[in-house]
Amino acid sequence: MQQAPLYFAEKTKRYHMKKQKEKNPDLETFKALLQSVEKFTEEDVNYLMEDLEHWGFFRMPASCKKHNCYEGGLLKHSLNVCQMAQMLREQALSIRPDLAPLLPMDSVIIASLLHDVCKSGIYQKVTRRLKNEIGLWESSSAYNIDYSYLPVGHGEKSVIMLLRSGLDLSDDEIMAIRWHMGGWDLPYQSQEMIASQKKACEITPLVTLIHTADAMAANLMERPYTIL
Ligand SMILES: [Fe+2]
Ligand SMILES: [Fe+2]
Repeated sequence: MQQAPLYFAEKTKRYHMKKQKEKNPDLETFKALLQSVEKFTEEDVNYLMEDLEHWGFFRMPASCKKHNCYEGGLLKHSLNVCQMAQMLREQALSIRPDLAPLLPMDSVIIASLLHDVCKSGIYQKVTRRLKNEIGLWESSSAYNIDYSYLPVGHGEKSVIMLLRSGLDLSDDEIMAIRWHMGGWDLPYQSQEMIASQKKACEITPLVTLIHTADAMAANLMERPYTIL
């Protein structure tokens, strides 16, 4: 008797995933990029997509104030970082072709698309009453942040979540995801952390590439500016 509601729940989940895909070309692009990674099987990609859906990744904004602050903004940000990282890779290799073995396209896709998985579920939509420009109260939606699920940091949380989802990540991909915030994520009282981030940058240019692509996507492709 217990199987019926489970079956119904599963059907409902798949229906909503299908509907979301139909409406959302970003989701199709995201999945197609993952499917293009040679070492990922179809099963790997399907498991990951289900976990991302379950964690709320596809519904998240990229931030609550700075960039892509709307539902689905995190998915768009991930695609933007991937696009930016591919452009930077091409430019970098035109100057330094010897770096090609250290910047495989598959690793660029993995690290760029999945660097912010840690943001899944941390933003919750709320309605706030705020005064508008002429002093009238009006309702507007905003996001609160809740770090209660697995509060172990930022990049390191993404790595843990991806490994838990069964993904086979290389050391370089792990380092690039872990340190995608660059120096902004360093606790300066820890010499070990400072030395680790520096060493990761020395081992593979993928760390610098993903960090730069993330900053450029957030600040050049997504953040609004007032141009006077
Ligand atoms: Fe991040
Ligand atoms: Fe990011």
